[in-house]
Amino acid sequence: MRILLTGGAGYIGSHTAVELVAAGHEVVVADNLVNSHVEAVRRVERITGTRVPLHVGDCADPGFMGKVFAEHSFDAVVHLAGLKAVGESVAQPLRYYRNNLDVLLTVCETAHAHGVTRLVFSSSATVYGDPAAVPIPEGAPLSVTNPYGATKLFGERILTDLVAASPEWRVLVLRYFNPIGAHESGLIGEDPAEVPNNLFPYITQVAAGRLPRLDVYGDDYDTPDGTGVRDYLHVVDLARGHLAAVERVAEGTGVAVYNLGTGVGTSVFEAIAAFERATGRKVPHRVVGRRPGDIASCYADPSAANAELGWAATRTVEQACADAWRWQSANPDGYRG
Ligand code: WQD
Repeated sequence: MRILLTGGAGYIGSHTAVELVAAGHEVVVADNLVNSHVEAVRRVERITGTRVPLHVGDCADPGFMGKVFAEHSFDAVVHLAGLKAVGESVAQPLRYYRNNLDVLLTVCETAHAHGVTRLVFSSSATVYGDPAAVPIPEGAPLSVTNPYGATKLFGERILTDLVAASPEWRVLVLRYFNPIGAHESGLIGEDPAEVPNNLFPYITQVAAGRLPRLDVYGDDYDTPDGTGVRDYLHVVDLARGHLAAVERVAEGTGVAVYNLGTGVGTSVFEAIAAFERATGRKVPHRVVGRRPGDIASCYADPSAANAELGWAATRTVEQACADAWRWQSANPDGYRG
């Protein structure tokens, strides 16, 4: 299939591009590079030995999207483009609503105008808010506590209404848990523009000496060791979840929603220990107060994706730590180096 991959120069996008190309799909990337690098796409080409056309522009711009669709006859869209920092979304809600919703609306309108009605949508476990129970199935109650999460929830609603009005559409919604790690080559990986908010890139930069110490945000949660528990999913497993979704979006009708997670919860202390075992590097850390908005536990029930997509995570947190360290060691300044 010929796939438009929006946001394909980003962390998830570049890894997804590798898996789609490796499986024989043609991939075209559209990305505004606001939080990504053209070098990532060049490295996808190096890994796959295949050319990956890149259109640089704003996916919310109908003129830009129209040109991209006019140039290629796509079979489907994998839509990842969007702003994704929870804390930033709280500080800049209008920017997040404008960008993430306009991008989705423009991509859908332009696709429809060009006869493309198959879409895989990047959503997030953040739509579950503070879950009443774990592991979390797709039918669990949805609630959001920040503008970023709201744009994902609204995005799912927009797509549900689109499919109800236009049954020719087929949509698969993928709710990511916590992506970590990097491609085994060490050529692509997570490259935060500023000091990382997320745990794993922060640990990696502490291990590399770029940051002095990890602050553990609370050890008084109702969890086995008191620290926050999350479902850390290797980014290559996540990328392969998109491949499985692309192969399913080519058939069937309607909207289907899938959790992409391991189904296993890992605490902050367990993550630190896994990283130290995998890399031999110490991660100096101290316990401080809770981070506002954090929840105790969040991990997936991935049984629907296992059964209906034929997908399951196979890589461990330790493997992800080793892969992330290989990327960090080979690219101390990320793609800017
Ligand atoms: C994980 C755990 C922290 C940093 C976020 C978004 C979510 C998704 C993934 C986009 C928590 C603890 C963290 C640190 C720490 N993004 N922690 N010290 O908050 O589960 O999810 O990223 O879809 O939408 O909400 O991930 O990596 O920030 O935190 O102790 O310096 O690590 O308290 O328990 P989170 P995270």
